[in-house]
Amino acid sequence: METQAFKPELADLKKAAQLIDDGELVAFPTETVYGLGADATNPAAVKKVFEAKGRPADNPLIVTVADPKQVADFAQVSAAAQVLMDHFWPGSLTIILPTKPKHLDDVVTGGLPTAAFRLPDNQATQELIKLAGVPLVGPSANTSGKPSPTTAAHVWHDMDHKIAGIIDDGPTTVGVESTVVDLSVSPATILRTGAVTEEELEQVLDEPVIDVTQPTAVDDAVHPKAPGMKYRHYAPDKPVVMFDPLDAGELAKALQGSDAVMALDDTLAQLPAGQTKTWSLGKDYQSASEQLFAGLRYFDDQGDVQRIYVERLPEIGLGRAYNNRLAKASGNQFFQAD
Ligand code: TXA
Ligand code: MG
Repeated sequence: METQAFKPELADLKKAAQLIDDGELVAFPTETVYGLGADATNPAAVKKVFEAKGRPADNPLIVTVADPKQVADFAQVSAAAQVLMDHFWPGSLTIILPTKPKHLDDVVTGGLPTAAFRLPDNQATQELIKLAGVPLVGPSANTSGKPSPTTAAHVWHDMDHKIAGIIDDGPTTVGVESTVVDLSVSPATILRTGAVTEEELEQVLDEPVIDVTQPTAVDDAVHPKAPGMKYRHYAPDKPVVMFDPLDAGELAKALQGSDAVMALDDTLAQLPAGQTKTWSLGKDYQSASEQLFAGLRYFDDQGDVQRIYVERLPEIGLGRAYNNRLAKASGNQFFQAD
């Protein structure tokens, strides 16, 4: 299949919407990562998403809407859900709600009595959904298990000849996937960390929120709450190793010529100049989250790189989501200074 390149302009969005209507797949931009779109009400189209990504069939998809009102067609919208939608949408929050029976096919929900909903902060994608007249399933547009795509080029790399079109709206700004909060249980439970934090959710809901992604929570490897969490994720083919910035000096001594380092600018300044392959994560957790997947993908494609060292950040705000993705990409491998 020839994959078509689309710009975020009305004429192109109309062509893309027509492809969605024809049951084809189109990758779309969001503020977090690029998504892989198909008509959420067309099971045959949704099946193609699993094939293109190589995604396990029991891992349910997000239903991506352009208007909060669309959610009520498929799910029971509680008062708390309405409050979160009003406050955080459009934005980086995915909300899990109990579905109305028989309104979404099992291929979307993985057979669960719940479904995930999100309204991304991207004009072109909102327009695409309106033109298509149906919500889109929207998993990240990467090959299953690989780092999520934060540029259209990343999507081309993984999806060329597998999908009908890609809408290029430039690099995404957040860089890590949305926060997933489960409102089908009480108290509300964070299943995936993202730009919307536990503290913000508690403040808006005026209730305690549990974060099961934190180390103190029940062993989610045994009882994964979000089905997707039991799979290896965000991982390049090459080994990724986390390091604490306090160990930068020791790391500098241990580096081989074939090692790459991704770190904040202040940390990179402590490494031997010219000797190492480096990728700047900028100055704080915001720029680091925006750059993480791009750097991992870049070095994964460099033939002369054998190992990728990546700086771990303080567990504050978006730093928590960043560390969570990095921990998974590295399989929890930490650099140990002797
Ligand atoms: O930022 C994002 O959320 C991106 C952009 C493209 O919107 N999308 C995304 O989708 O990350 P995906 O499919 O890669 O991740 C969705 C996560 C998976 O871990 C999945 O298991 C979980 O949400 N999920 C979906 N439906 C669920 C449900 N009913 N119950 C529990 N977890 C669910
Ligand atoms: Mg994904």
